[in-house]
Order: sequence, then structure tokens, then C-alpha cells
Amino acid sequence: MAHPLFDLTGRVALVSGAASGMGKQISIALAEVGADVMLADINLDGAEATAEEIRSLGRKAVPVVCDVSKPAQITAMFERLDQEFGQIDVLANVAGVGVIGPPESVPIASLEQSLNNLVIGRFAACQEAGRRMLAQGKGSIINIGSIAGWNSLGRSHTPYGMAMGAVIAMTRELSTEWAARGVRVNCILPAQITNAGLEARMATTPGVRDTFIGGIPMGRMGKPEEIKGVAIFLASDAASFVTGAILPMDGGNLAMNAGGTYPGSPRVSG
Ligand SMILES: NC(=O)c1ccc[n+]([C@@H]2O[C@H](COP(=O)([O-])OP(=O)(O)OC[C@H]3O[C@@H](n4cnc5c(N)ncnc54)[C@H](O)[C@@H]3O)[C@@H](O)[C@H]2O)c1
Repeated sequence: MAHPLFDLTGRVALVSGAASGMGKQISIALAEVGADVMLADINLDGAEATAEEIRSLGRKAVPVVCDVSKPAQITAMFERLDQEFGQIDVLANVAGVGVIGPPESVPIASLEQSLNNLVIGRFAACQEAGRRMLAQGKGSIINIGSIAGWNSLGRSHTPYGMAMGAVIAMTRELSTEWAARGVRVNCILPAQITNAGLEARMATTPGVRDTFIGGIPMGRMGKPEEIKGVAIFLASDAASFVTGAILPMDGGNLAMNAGGTYPGSPRVSG
């Protein structure tokens, strides 16, 4: 039997990036423990497919088109949420791509694109959800960051790392501002999790898979569904005294020194 601390029956969640990958898995996970879910994505067909899975669990699911890099679309999405659900208990900020490029030549416009997607978008949603949660006196916000916001990946990731570093700083600031008023704000830092983009990159760039796996002591990349339990925990009352946490979901990546190796590592050991 599931522990009641993890029960989200009667709660409403809004998840961005809900059409695929970790956003889809978080949406389904929250519904599996009882939440109704609004599913935001630029891919409406994908969000509708996630909604169908959630409805088959007996939960309400409303897909909505929203480009998170456009704050006006986020405002409109929350107006729709007010009409459809009338409350918000959980926000999972997952959507948004980061543009990459060499620091000495990447166009400033690309940096702005990364910041609009990952920082402004997450902040605008935190602001909309935060106002409503503060009025309710309760809520949980989950921001998806990245190990790239904690230390450097190189390989042209400067604009992405800058954005994800800001997501970590934003999480700490918001958690400090809102903790005493019942709103918790936490951040998950995934290492490399399989998705279509990474699979394409590994197919065209020999050796990059070993580079990823050499940094992950579990000896494998993560799977999108491995975020389900982490998200349920942070969303639920099981995490009632947890806020401002920057939680790696990385197979041990951040624990290991950049020059370290583990048994079975594709990097030279000994
Ligand atoms: N996969 C990884 O290795 C990894 C690691 C660390 C952090 N992250 C971050 O986690 C988040 C999700 O990654 P994923 O692997 O699940 O990706 P994914 O590509 O599987 O899914 C991303 C989803 O977001 C949607 N999306 C993209 N841009 C959007 C926008 N502007 N507005 C609304 N929806 C948009 C896409 O349509 C897609 O459904 C991203 O912010 C990514 O940077 C991913």
C-alpha cells in the first residue's frame, strides 16, 4: 500500500514540457498518485497523448500550447488554469531548450534564447504559480536544472550552463522568500538522461557516449522515468520540510571529481 504522505489526491499540478521526456514522466507520475494535471508544451499532439494516458488513470488532464520562452503565453496559460482547475498545488518547470555555442563566438541572440527558454520562462511560471500558492498558503515548485548549472561541461555549453546556474540561484532565492508562507521551491539536477536529441548527438559524434558515461559512476545514462519518484517526493507532503534543495539525479556524477574514475569506467583507470 502506498504511504499517504505521497498521496496527491485533490491536488492540481501544472507541468511544462509534458509532451515528452522528463516532463511527460513527471506528469504521469503525479497523476498516478492522484493529481489532476495541466500539460503545457509547444507540441500539442504530444501533450494530448500524455493527457490520454492520464485520463486512462481516471484523472483530469488538460493539454495547452505554451511556448515557455514567451511570458505572455505563460500568463495566458495560468488564466486558463484558473478557469479549468481553480487552484494550483504543484508546478514542474521542465520545458525549454538551451542553445549552445563557443563562448568566443556564440551570438548574443543565442544566449538570450537560452535565458528566455530556461530562466525567464521558469521565473515567469514561478511568479504566476507563486502568487496563487502564496494566497493558498501552500504549494510546491519543482525546477529542472542540470549538472551543467553546477559545474562546467565545456563543449560549447557556456550559454546553457549560464542559464542553468541561474535556475539554481533562482530556486535558492524563491525558497528563501516563500518558505515561511508555505511555498516550497526545489531544483532537480539531472545528468545525461536519454532523449531524442542526445541519441542523435551520440549517433553522429563518436566517443561522446563514453564521455558521458565516464562521468557517471553508475556506468549508464539515466532514463526519463527515473525522475518519477524524485518528483513525487518533492511535490508531496513527504517533503514538507524540504525547500531550497538542489538535488542531483545523476547516477553519482557530481560526487565524483572530474579526474576520477570508477570500476568499469570507459576512462583509463589505475
Ligand atoms: N536530457 C538530459 O540529459 C537533461 C539533463 C539535464 C537537464 N535537462 C533539462 O531538462 C529539461 C527536459 O529535458 P528532456 O530530456 O526531458 O527533453 P525532451 O526533449 O525529451 O522534452 C522536452 C519537451 O519540452 C518541449 N519544449 C521545448 N521547448 C519548449 C518551449 N519553448 N515551450 C514549451 N515546451 C517546449 C518539447 O516539445 C518536448 O516535449 C530541459 O530543460 C533540459 O535542458 C535535460
